[in-house]
Amino acid sequence: MAKQRAQWSGRIGFVLAAAGSAIGLGNLWKFPYIAYENNGGAFVLVYLAAIALVGAPIMVAEILLGRRSQLSPVGAFRLLAQGKPGGRAWMGVGFLGVMTGFVILSYYSVVAGWTIRYTLMAISGRLGTLANHPQELESFFGSFLGSPFEQILYHGLFMGATCAVVYFGVGRGIERAARLLMPLLITILLILVVYTFWTPGFRQAMVFIFRPNFSQLTAGGVLEALGHSFFTLSLGMGAMLTYGSYMRKKDSIPRAALTICALDTLIAVMACIIMFSIIFSFDFEVKKSSTILFTTLPVVFFKLPGGAIISALFYMLVGFAALSSTISLLEVVSSYAIDELGWRRKRATLTMGAAIFVFGCLSAVSNGGSALLSNINFIGRPSTQGVFGTLDYLASNWFLPVGGLFIALFTGWILTREESCDELESGAGNIRTPYTVWRFLIRFAAPAAVGAIIVSVILGAEYQ
Ligand code: TRP
Repeated sequence: MAKQRAQWSGRIGFVLAAAGSAIGLGNLWKFPYIAYENNGGAFVLVYLAAIALVGAPIMVAEILLGRRSQLSPVGAFRLLAQGKPGGRAWMGVGFLGVMTGFVILSYYSVVAGWTIRYTLMAISGRLGTLANHPQELESFFGSFLGSPFEQILYHGLFMGATCAVVYFGVGRGIERAARLLMPLLITILLILVVYTFWTPGFRQAMVFIFRPNFSQLTAGGVLEALGHSFFTLSLGMGAMLTYGSYMRKKDSIPRAALTICALDTLIAVMACIIMFSIIFSFDFEVKKSSTILFTTLPVVFFKLPGGAIISALFYMLVGFAALSSTISLLEVVSSYAIDELGWRRKRATLTMGAAIFVFGCLSAVSNGGSALLSNINFIGRPSTQGVFGTLDYLASNWFLPVGGLFIALFTGWILTREESCDELESGAGNIRTPYTVWRFLIRFAAPAAVGAIIVSVILGAEYQ
């Protein structure tokens, strides 16, 4: 008798786990930084449009492919492409996804590890001492990145935590962690937003984020917003596909997808409100640099009353958000071994986790950390510095957009109308009009937009 595939306990379980995957360093670290760099308002609006017109339809597509096939990416493409144009070649998209998951997790976990260090330092008071002397904080950060021992230690701790969750499987591991982490994360964020409401910079922050000034929008900014919509929603490598394969047939895909997109966007905007309110509360020039989160923010935190508590909460929050994302990355790689190689979950998790840890050590010790920090544009400028920067550049600028493009093309053009409509209506009822809109977006709008990113990367467009 075939073993029944594991399932989320229900609608909420799936939404929390998938939102946990989407919400991560991309929201709390990268989005505020690129929004700041691109002068807020207009950029934020374009980002919102990208989420709605490209991100959301591809989110629906990935979940659909997963739930229809009941398999992880490689198997999903093998099964669904059977007897169709392209045939087994579509499995390549699945393999690309598994490899991308492996690569992203290897360096993502290194950055995530920094949050452990910062939380500990905030609690012990060391961060407060350093924050009073910005120069010292910066040199501390530099030597922290330059210490292979520390980098490997925190990377290892983070991978260990990730493995521990995935080890217990879909229900007892991933969903349980999400049910604990997501409410915690939202609570901490709300506390911080309420707190920043009373800071003097709040008004200016709102204006910065929500008043568009289109004269400040660059072509590069538009493409950057589009690219980021992929990363932040965990799209393009089959993470949502894998999570979708554990979804119950009686739950609505469109509804879940829209909720996940909305939550992810909400958190990204909240992160901006928090960071900008704090930054604008003080009269000092904040460099447009991606190190804001680790070198500037602590300085500002400790100028506020209760800085120690606020900063400890904040770094813990970033760590939790990162953990629910690393879980999804490891799940893609592990479920490949489980579904395709026939491994048991425990073996798959521990073996793949260990392999990713070892591979990640390259990023941890190459001091590419600083390279990542200066080249954090996931879509955009090539980075040649360090293993870290190179992997990030490859994964985010090439693998995710290419994967996303093929996922859109496959769902829009290879899967028949009956197949996709049938799957989307399961749990959602009759959805004629939204289905037509979605089908148009997935066949034309999304491939065109993603194609534009890829072409611009090939042409070496400057994203400044
Ligand atoms: N979306 C997460 C973030 O914003 C990162 C992430 C998790 C991811 N799983 C992914 C990105 C799969 C791309 C693909 O931090």
